[in-house]
Amino acid sequence: MKKDLLSISDFSREEILDLFEKSSDLKEKRQKGIPHQPLTGKTLGMIFNKHSTRTRISFEVGMFELGGHALFLTGDQLQLNRGETIRDSAQVLSRYLNGILIRTYDHDEVLALAEHATIPVINGLTDFNHPLQILADIFTIKEKLGGIDGVKVAYVGDGNNVAYSWMMGASIMGMDLVIACPNSLQPSTAPDLGNNGHVKIIEDPFEAVQNADIIYTDVWISMGDEEDTESKKKLLLPYQINQRLVDAAKKDVMVMHCLPAHREIEITSEVLDGGHSIIFDQAENRLHVQKAILETLLLPPQE
Ligand code: CP
Ligand code: NVA
Repeated sequence: MKKDLLSISDFSREEILDLFEKSSDLKEKRQKGIPHQPLTGKTLGMIFNKHSTRTRISFEVGMFELGGHALFLTGDQLQLNRGETIRDSAQVLSRYLNGILIRTYDHDEVLALAEHATIPVINGLTDFNHPLQILADIFTIKEKLGGIDGVKVAYVGDGNNVAYSWMMGASIMGMDLVIACPNSLQPSTAPDLGNNGHVKIIEDPFEAVQNADIIYTDVWISMGDEEDTESKKKLLLPYQINQRLVDAAKKDVMVMHCLPAHREIEITSEVLDGGHSIIFDQAENRLHVQKAILETLLLPPQE
């Protein structure tokens, strides 16, 4: 039976740890220049209804390195955006491809695509969540700290799709997550949205970073969320990741950002380029973890 990645909760803790082992192995092979092409002859269709640098390029490169081929498909050029139903599109694409990656607005669209496709569907970001990002982030933390047990992450900023995936990721992996967010922008704490006791949501960013191993942020204005930009930015001003906030945390705290960053808005250049930042290692790991996801989903298990 096909397996999809629509939310982090599609994978168990054990499956995620297996995925990380595979990711480390693929990273090492790449660093040593050892060819590894298990996806020869396989194709991935990549539907993008929003912009992307990391997700698009790391998947395209990842498929190429694994021996397969990726097709970049913008929503505008597909019949899908001219009224062909998701149901029909899903059935047709399933006849040509071995997997579909989709980045779009409405999470329900991704669920419908997965329901009607007979091939694996990967969520490349919706307004609701961004599972690929948080899988690569947790892998990065594990790599840097040697483990994830007892690790505390302080997410400071907008309660958006990345925050929701962090809530699910922390809950599944048993990490402590404190989200510091202005009251009106806080994510919902409903248990089915990923809060099983490992997640705390507060307002004070300085309280959040106390004893944190990781300070994490994302853009304040997400794609498709461009209404009321100025008032939202004003509300989020006290949540900027700057040197003062980093100095209030542990001496060896690490700073992460899923990127793209708006320098001097949600994070200062001083921090982004500074000694606590692991942001570009984090971005690189998108490639290794996604290659592991591709191998896991696109290769049928051996009988
Ligand atoms: N972090 C992330 O998903 O980046 P892109 O929007 O560039 O893909
Ligand atoms: N929250 C951001 C993440 C970008 C990778 C957005 O949805 O635009």
